[in-house]
Amino acid sequence: MHLYKIGKMVLGSAAVIVSASLGALYLYQNKLIYPSWAQGARDHVDTPDQYGLPYEDLTLTTSDGVLLKAFDIRNENSTATMLVLCPNAGNIGYFLPVARFLYNEFNLSIFLYSYRGYGLSTGFPSERGLKIDADTVMDHLTNSEFHKSRKLILYGRSLGGANAIYLARKFTDICDAIILENTFLSIRKVIPYVFPMLKNVAFMCHEVWDSEQEIVNIQDDTLPFLFLAGLRDEIVPPPHMKLLYKLCPSSCKRFIEFPIGSHNDTIIQDGYWVVVKEFLQKHNLI
Ligand SMILES: *[C@@H]1O[C@H](CO)[C@@H](O)[C@H](O)[C@H]1NC(C)=O
Ligand SMILES: *[C@@H]1O[C@H](CO)[C@@H](O)[C@H](O)[C@H]1NC(C)=O
Ligand SMILES: *[C@@H]1O[C@H](CO)[C@@H](O)[C@H](O)[C@H]1NC(C)=O
Repeated sequence: MHLYKIGKMVLGSAAVIVSASLGALYLYQNKLIYPSWAQGARDHVDTPDQYGLPYEDLTLTTSDGVLLKAFDIRNENSTATMLVLCPNAGNIGYFLPVARFLYNEFNLSIFLYSYRGYGLSTGFPSERGLKIDADTVMDHLTNSEFHKSRKLILYGRSLGGANAIYLARKFTDICDAIILENTFLSIRKVIPYVFPMLKNVAFMCHEVWDSEQEIVNIQDDTLPFLFLAGLRDEIVPPPHMKLLYKLCPSSCKRFIEFPIGSHNDTIIQDGYWVVVKEFLQKHNLI
């Protein structure tokens, strides 16, 4: 065989392999971006009563027929309800120790729900789907006598931050404060940091979560924002939080950094809850 022909064949199969892997990456990226399957988080979800909290176990049906599981943890003495937008690993049960603290120390009501494909909710996660879920929850809260008579705080960590920014833009009038922790400008801009090998194919990522654009479009410069950033975040490049803060149109925003906070453990850094409490008190939410 001609060397030329062999070369062509080799290149040809390489191209097939590369496009097959890119194709797989395109199809299976949701498994990487939304690791809801990991750690048995789809098999078992702790319940608030295990933490001594009263709650209602809810199932909300989305407009496209997905069943979302939620915990409605009501505190009669609460001024506000905190809607918790969870990060992309684990399930809502993981947040319950914090929920107990918020309920007992800050007198808050807490609303937790599992995104589609997470915990015991049905369906598969996707950006489009999670936004429908968020709309569904907002619709539920604004129609609940209990919650609509209270102020609303959105608390989003990581992927939850992208959900919170989406909701703050879409339902600005209903929101009273936004707390964001270690969230990103967009998924595409996180990829080169987490998977350097994929930096040239980041454009193929169909899950975008364009918070960089979304935050600019929030039409209320008085909505209070608190940004909590771990400077040792190994998943989201720390400059993302800085830039989101800069882009946030609110004149009432605060940026707090935790020098040794990583992606997961910023929430347990010294002073974290002191800052949150000051923020909530300042805006008459507790
Ligand atoms: C609400 O406040 C009242 C009066 O201080 C107290 O007796 C009650 O235990 C509180 N309820 C909750 C859920 O904290
Ligand atoms: C929570 O409620 C209790 C009882 O009403 C009150 O004593 C306490 O100061 C409240 N805590 C906060 C942080 O507002
Ligand atoms: C962060 O949390 C995830 C999911 O809970 C866990 O798999 C991972 O090991 C944690 N990473 C660190 C640095 O704690």
